[in-house]
Amino acid sequence: MTETHFGYERVDEAAKSERVRGVFDSVAPKYDVMNDLMSFGLHRAWKAYAVAVANLRVGDKVLDVAGGTGDLARSFATRVGPSGVVVHSDINEAMLRHGRDRLLDAGVALPTVLCDAERLPFSTGTFDLVSVGFGLRNMTHKERALAEMSRVVRAGGRLLVLEFSKVAPPLQRAYDWYSFNVLPRIGQWIAKDGDSYRYLAESIRLHPSQDELKSMVKSAGFGHVDVHNLSAGVVALHVGIKC
Ligand SMILES: C[S@@+](CC[C@H](N)C(=O)[O-])C[C@H]1O[C@@H](n2cnc3c(N)ncnc32)[C@H](O)[C@@H]1O
Repeated sequence: MTETHFGYERVDEAAKSERVRGVFDSVAPKYDVMNDLMSFGLHRAWKAYAVAVANLRVGDKVLDVAGGTGDLARSFATRVGPSGVVVHSDINEAMLRHGRDRLLDAGVALPTVLCDAERLPFSTGTFDLVSVGFGLRNMTHKERALAEMSRVVRAGGRLLVLEFSKVAPPLQRAYDWYSFNVLPRIGQWIAKDGDSYRYLAESIRLHPSQDELKSMVKSAGFGHVDVHNLSAGVVALHVGIKC
């Protein structure tokens, strides 16, 4: 049996996806309000930046992996228009269901696919752009997921990875204090689940740095990768071009 991390805990690989599922089953109903509270609304700006960088055209085909409650998918849909396609996907039924309902409430009906990023049920070269927002960190085999995303992007297409990253050193202590003392308390108070938000803080610490992730995206088949640090590296946007 191979071991991996679930936050700071060492778990069997087979158990990790179950534990991650438990986290998102638990937080799904309060996911959006928690995002606003924890990030002081900044997650909206990070996502808006990613959507601007995506520079989509009318008619483009987009896959949003780990799409959760659908923020990115919704913004992409307005850009590709009725002649384009945005597939909203996630491994977690509770998150996907919540996202689909939110999208429908906003008048946006998208194809919704329950699937694991490590085994994408799409043909090779289907999409102009694949995105993964705050999802890669939770995946057991990140290289396998990136390889799958690369497979389903057409030659010349792009990958966007928006994810928590390594914050600039002067902010490190304050950020750690906030992450380990404040986040779990807000999680306990609002979502009645401090442990899931402790996992969030731990998983961010174990996620590859900007440079490490850049190498991983390159190895997955994206010949050119740009890295955009947002909010002093609290978040990074990796943009890969398949060339
Ligand atoms: C923090 S949420 C991000 C949701 C949304 N993209 C956003 O930015 O708000 C992480 C999502 O990743 C999903 N996820 C975790 N492992 C996954 C996997 N192997 N394949 C697909 N989705 C996965 C979770 O179910 C969850 O909905």
